[in-house]
Amino acid sequence: MCGIVGYIGENNCVPIIVEGLKRLEYRGYDSSGISIIKEKEILTYKKEGKIYNMEAILPKELSGKIGIGHTRWATHGGVSDKNAHPHLSQNGKISIIHNGIIENYIELKKKLIDEGYTFRSETDSEVIAYLLEKNYNGNFEETFYKTLQQLEGAYGILAICLSEPDYIMVARKGSPLIIGIGENEMFVASDANAFLGYTKQVVYLEDYEIAKIEKKQYITKNFRLESIQKKVNTIDWDQTALDKGDFSHYMLKEIFEQPESIRRAFAGRIIQNIGTVKLGGLNLTPQELFNIERVNIIACGTSYHAGLVGSYVIEELARVATRVEIASEFRYKNPIIEKGTISFAVSQSGETIDTLFAMREIQRKGAKVLGICNVVGSTIPRESNGGVYVHSGPEVAVASTKAFTSQLIAFYLFATLIGRMRDLGQFRGIELVSEIEMLPNKVQEILNNSKYIENIAEKYTKLDNFLFLGRGLSYPVALEGALKLKEISYLHAEGVPAGEIKHGPIALIDKKTPVIFIMPDDHLFEKTFSNMQEVRARGGIILSICNEKNVKKIKGIADDVIVIPETESIFSSLLTIIPLQLLSYYIAKNLGCDIDKPRNLAKSVTVE
Ligand code: AGP
Ligand code: GLU
Repeated sequence: MCGIVGYIGENNCVPIIVEGLKRLEYRGYDSSGISIIKEKEILTYKKEGKIYNMEAILPKELSGKIGIGHTRWATHGGVSDKNAHPHLSQNGKISIIHNGIIENYIELKKKLIDEGYTFRSETDSEVIAYLLEKNYNGNFEETFYKTLQQLEGAYGILAICLSEPDYIMVARKGSPLIIGIGENEMFVASDANAFLGYTKQVVYLEDYEIAKIEKKQYITKNFRLESIQKKVNTIDWDQTALDKGDFSHYMLKEIFEQPESIRRAFAGRIIQNIGTVKLGGLNLTPQELFNIERVNIIACGTSYHAGLVGSYVIEELARVATRVEIASEFRYKNPIIEKGTISFAVSQSGETIDTLFAMREIQRKGAKVLGICNVVGSTIPRESNGGVYVHSGPEVAVASTKAFTSQLIAFYLFATLIGRMRDLGQFRGIELVSEIEMLPNKVQEILNNSKYIENIAEKYTKLDNFLFLGRGLSYPVALEGALKLKEISYLHAEGVPAGEIKHGPIALIDKKTPVIFIMPDDHLFEKTFSNMQEVRARGGIILSICNEKNVKKIKGIADDVIVIPETESIFSSLLTIIPLQLLSYYIAKNLGCDIDKPRNLAKSVTVE
């Protein structure tokens, strides 16, 4: 994972890099560091922990015109000052930062040790700096190319050299890198957020591409060292979207943004009068849409849960068989992709390596993959055959909230679109799209009730070992509710299909077990209600998420009830998840957890 920032230009690089790292801290926060070239030496400062730890050790007068910075998510070697990046060559004349894993580092390191080099860290990354020193022939650019040929694995690398202080060498194979073009200055980072305050003109490097970045120009080549011409893109994200405003955490801000982000996800895509949808980005002709026989969805984590909801909705509205798989499992499976299958890669960041590699495997087999992504210009949408941007705006909190609900909208739209090409008539289509348009107001209604949820959270903060139960469309919500809680509060939580508890999990229930029932008023309500009675009989503490209509019935059994507005039952997941996001947030807040940057996690998972 990790965040990378580099700068070369006429301004002082130190505050630019530190600020950039803060914006990338979501990618990892085990340690951070910075190297700058200052006259006759490379100055390096690095520190375990969050960026402010490293910032605190920077001399006030520190300044330079070229520098690189890194925020780490450790893969090889513990979390410590010495394992923090940048890593210097043994002679201190070369400095590198690395995102990814060098798979052959053990043999490279052994050879270098045999030749007399002494390593300072336990990381895989340090071999890059040492190899660059060993290979150096007076031309850093050439040395960099040669060194890359010796590396196996995945990487985004930035390297600077004391004796050639006018450029940064950069290479991408598996980990994102974006060049930002300023006036008499250039930026390079793993995510454009790092430098959006300075420029919106960007160049996306692809895998197997290299760049030499100077103050006034950049040169891009492929791994065969042929020059390549790259397109310059303009990013239109507003930097203010990255500020927390009055909210105590980004997560809370993002939960409250959902009425707006959901609206953006369907804006301009609904054709009201004929009850259908247009999704131009899919790049599929009506004939191709008509011919879809199967849908295959790959994703990880929260995006996988959105995919599960998608599978229910597509099967129900369009009657097209849909399977969903966790990308890290799917990619190593030699998957069977039958004719007529369209695949979706669902990813907020668009950079999750498991999802990306699964997508490439499907494409290798000759089939098309569509992206459902949030980050515009990220790798998955760039490499996909088309797709749907969900337009949630930047999601900063590690725990995904608004991207999830927008991903659901993308599936609702797609299911309605191909459903209308099959069994759904115009009037049913109109009902569905009208209901989609109502969803933002209904989400707002739940948010208006946040104080009530905050009060309930107090009681549940004292408990542990949560079970989240739901059936049908509420089962993925149970999984997502449990994931949210464990990610940010570190409390143990499991999502289970309500009908499954009697096959095992019911053994866990005693008088201290909190059990959250997700039970909107759908055809499965009575079934879930029976499961609730089974839990009550064993003394569990019950919180129910339900509709007003059933409150009376439930109140006799449940300890607490959170009411959500009525909707078409096919869209219920989008409403039932909102109280669960809030509940997790308030529990984690009561426990004093680092909500936006939970331990051991990172926002963008670019390692396997
Ligand atoms: C969500 O709260 C998690 N942090 C995580 O499960 C995330 O959804 C997963 O890593 C996938 O990320 P992506 O959507 O960016 O691919
Ligand atoms: N493998 C490197 C390390 O553990 C880089 C990890 C990352 O991508 O943050 O230091």
